[in-house]
Amino acid sequence: MKIVIANDHGAVALKFRLVKWLESQGHQVVNLGIDTEDRVDYPDQAELAVQEYFRGGYDFGIVCCGTGIGISIAANRHKGIRCALIHDSYTARMAKEHNNANFVAFGGRGEYVEPVEQILGVYMNAKFEGGRHATRVAKLDTIC
Ligand code: RB5
Repeated sequence: MKIVIANDHGAVALKFRLVKWLESQGHQVVNLGIDTEDRVDYPDQAELAVQEYFRGGYDFGIVCCGTGIGISIAANRHKGIRCALIHDSYTARMAKEHNNANFVAFGGRGEYVEPVEQILGVYMNAKFEGGRHATRVAKLDTIC
């Protein structure tokens, strides 16, 4: 898969951890996030990832900030982006099966009950169920 990732200063270590794992699995990752803990604004970091995703050729995007909240909100301001702030294997699977999320968000300053690699892997291996969920997902783009 080809994946774009961006982060703010609250998730530098987490970003590197996800990139390392993705590359070890043979995926191509374009890292547009900050690699140091110099302060940057999460809306700007989300913008970088989303605009790159819109260039095409990507399977999905990842955005990370301290909580994952701000950067997921920012990503979701863009029409066509369905960014899921996933917490565990269950929310990771549902993000794809029901919401067809094309972005996922993580927080670098919190605790996860499962390894983040496992959570991300569940999302990546899940399949959108379509059907009634496709109708609902289509309605999202009529909102903004
Ligand atoms: C930055 O301090 C922090 O506010 C940001 O990373 C994120 O948690 C916002 O939602």
